[in-house]
Amino acid sequence: MTTLQKLWQRGCDFLGTDAAILGGAMSWVSERTLVSAISNAGGFGVIACGAMPVDLLEQEIKATQSMTTKPFGVNLITMHPQLLELIDVCIRYEVTHIVLAGGLPPAEAISKVKSANIKLICFAPTLTLARKLIRLGVDALVIEGSEAGGHIGPVSTSVLAQEILPHITEVPVFVAGGIGRGETIANYLLMGASGAQLGTRFVCATECQAHADFKKAFIRASARDAVASVQLDHRLPVIPVRALQNAASARFIDFQRQMIKKLDQGEIDLKSAQLEVEHFWGGALRRAVVDGDIENGSVMAGQSVGMVKEEQPTAHIIEELIAQADAFLARN
Ligand SMILES: Cc1cc2nc3c(=O)[nH]c(=O)nc-3n(C[C@H](O)[C@H](O)[C@H](O)COP(=O)(O)O)c2cc1C
Repeated sequence: MTTLQKLWQRGCDFLGTDAAILGGAMSWVSERTLVSAISNAGGFGVIACGAMPVDLLEQEIKATQSMTTKPFGVNLITMHPQLLELIDVCIRYEVTHIVLAGGLPPAEAISKVKSANIKLICFAPTLTLARKLIRLGVDALVIEGSEAGGHIGPVSTSVLAQEILPHITEVPVFVAGGIGRGETIANYLLMGASGAQLGTRFVCATECQAHADFKKAFIRASARDAVASVQLDHRLPVIPVRALQNAASARFIDFQRQMIKKLDQGEIDLKSAQLEVEHFWGGALRRAVVDGDIENGSVMAGQSVGMVKEEQPTAHIIEELIAQADAFLARN
């Protein structure tokens, strides 16, 4: 058994995989083809349910099951109005792992997942919440730092790892955010993690169905192009999202300026201004991923985008990460 195998055995056992690498669910990106490719390559693919209705999730699970016999998970957003029905679909199709993302999951959702004997994975943004989630019966945790693509918290992966990994031994912990190479995975394993979750690195997998222009934007970008969304005024909260800077992100700043002016001049009420800001990005991720409109859509990407240099088969990405981790551990 190699050092790497020893270090991530707990994660592999939990996921039922050869490699404790989760392909983090990415809305519009993590569909049947990419998810099954990650699982077939020895990692753990996760379907992104996002805002999908129940029947579409059902189709996606069925299709994924027809493309792989390996384990994969389903990521559900806790704010989804049909969360419990989505869990029912997962139960019906004998999904083995559910990831609940987007805030503390409701107790009813947790008990539904647990009573169906499905393994439950949740995001822990702080040590206190990590402990609370474990008390609620969560089977594994993901800690995700602000280097990640998509919706982000305020704290970097390296700080979260130091705050949480030394103190949580009850359940496996997977580290996410800013991971582009195997050496980094190995380092987090040495600190006590059971595995890693990567999103950005899988966007340019050959099997990923994202639009060619979305992939090209990733290949062109460097780490500093993947920036967190900017909030100009505390009265108009902006949900922090990390994405490549483009025409839409520049327009978003101007848009907020206009709203602030209207608010100050009494031309709009606070609630309406907040809703306008909230709705600015509606449908924008789909526009970029599916339609390839990378200037007017939201090109969500993490800082590790600078390490994405070419389109590569999923299996090569996973082999590369493993080889880098193995070589690093052999040297140290
Ligand atoms: C385009 C994109 C869409 C994402 N959508 C979701 C999502 O729907 N649900 C979720 O839990 N995380 C989502 N994420 C986060 C990923 O699952 C993963 O945790 C993150 O990408 C890891 O950090 P990295 O990008 O630095 O590898 C998304 C990330 C990206 C880049």
